[in-house]
Amino acid sequence: SPIPSCDIVVFGGTGDLAVRKLLPALYLRDRDGQLPEDTRIIAVSRAGLDDVGYRVKIHGELGQFLPADTYDATAAHTFARRLHHITLDVLDDRDPDAAWYDLAAAIPDSNRTRVFYLACAATLFGPICTGLHRSGLITAASRVVLEKPIGTDLASARRINDEVGAVFAEEQIFRIDHYLGKETVQNLLVLRFANAMFEPLWNSGAIDHVQITVSEALGVGGRTGYYENSGALRDMVQNHLLQLLCLVAMEPPARLDPEAVRNEKLKVLQALQPLHGAEVHRFTVRGRYTAGAIDGQPVPGYAEEMHGRPSGTETFAALKVEIRNWRWAGVPFYLRTGKRLDRTAAEIVVQFREVPHSVFPGIEDSELPPNQLVLRLQPDEGVHLRLVTKEPGPGGLRLRSAPLNLSFAETFRSRLPDAYERLLGDVMRGNPTLFMRRDEIEAAWSWIETILAAWSELDQAPRPYAAGSNGPAAAIALIERDGRTWHEENQ
Ligand code: BG6
Repeated sequence: SPIPSCDIVVFGGTGDLAVRKLLPALYLRDRDGQLPEDTRIIAVSRAGLDDVGYRVKIHGELGQFLPADTYDATAAHTFARRLHHITLDVLDDRDPDAAWYDLAAAIPDSNRTRVFYLACAATLFGPICTGLHRSGLITAASRVVLEKPIGTDLASARRINDEVGAVFAEEQIFRIDHYLGKETVQNLLVLRFANAMFEPLWNSGAIDHVQITVSEALGVGGRTGYYENSGALRDMVQNHLLQLLCLVAMEPPARLDPEAVRNEKLKVLQALQPLHGAEVHRFTVRGRYTAGAIDGQPVPGYAEEMHGRPSGTETFAALKVEIRNWRWAGVPFYLRTGKRLDRTAAEIVVQFREVPHSVFPGIEDSELPPNQLVLRLQPDEGVHLRLVTKEPGPGGLRLRSAPLNLSFAETFRSRLPDAYERLLGDVMRGNPTLFMRRDEIEAAWSWIETILAAWSELDQAPRPYAAGSNGPAAAIALIERDGRTWHEENQ
């Protein structure tokens, strides 16, 4: 359906997320003719810019955050004309009516769809929602978008959800997890539910285990302020990795509608086996990078980036997780994510069981490599199905695992849109299927919380790993002691 005319109000309008992700995504939608002519983008920040100042800033920075060959000077000029800037300190309560007046004046038409995008710290969500409400800016056609992380534990997530829920109805609240906007992630649903061949095998009878890896070569860099209170478990596992796990593990919804999909994801979160105390130490690994090299260039460790300030924060986490239901009991899900690793890649690997018996003389069953379905989210999106085949040649029978490859870039030859392009479109159209409901967020926190508690009780420094390596040795041991190995590139 077409995108309606909107006033998009971005709180944190000069911040990292707005400049690197949101504005480039909106520009690309605009360039492709999908933003109605009178759609406006009103950035809110404390920067003291006027419209012209903001347009110049964004116009100047846009190019560096766009995919190759998508910058077009005329399109960028047209886009810049949609931009406005309002200076507002949402915490300034000396004269709140006056402070919010400019914003109210900038969006006078209460019949238009209003999207309030909170691209700022979650501690500001409450004050912003209160300010919007007090200034009478929340109309029936308003939506609010909340960036992750929502809170740092269950109690703070509940508090934020209460504050936002006091002025917006649940249908108006779009909690974004940008992993759900990635092409391959949506393809996971299509692969599972538009092909009949996988579903009969999608259970503990045929699947040995599942691996979900999101590794980044980037470090924390200038984000230590945020990251220090977060760490890999809160920053990546509580949201992105658990959402991927839900999509792999959930039951088929009756229809692809928002409540049906979210009900099924919630059931998976509720079935996660809780980890307590000693189990946390057996089934999780925390790590933190020390100085090393990425692509041959020396890079500092996290401690150096913190300039010697003491820190117990992890930049790497690996976990072994079980889902206690009929479909998945006994199938481990191994999750790992970290910064400053040897590669930037995200993938889901579904490993099937070994053949029950080898018919090939001289080849044991255990020597036959099991089938693997690899869903690659980045960098080169695609699906590989590894099958065992005969190596060509007249000699003896030699078997080898080889991939059937589906590369999206090669098969479809069109640019794959960035996750934010898709998700912003969904917000403007009012489709919350790919956004998280309150109960999902809280279920994810309640599972994460016992891990955080056990970690803090143990009070052990995260295990060191050199920047540019594939993480702490303990993460390798976590899977290898079960007789399995992490899937690495080119395998
Ligand atoms: C964000 C995290 O949600 O996701 C970042 O806060 C992380 O720390 C980023 O770098 C990764 O996203 P992507 O799309 O680059 O894999």
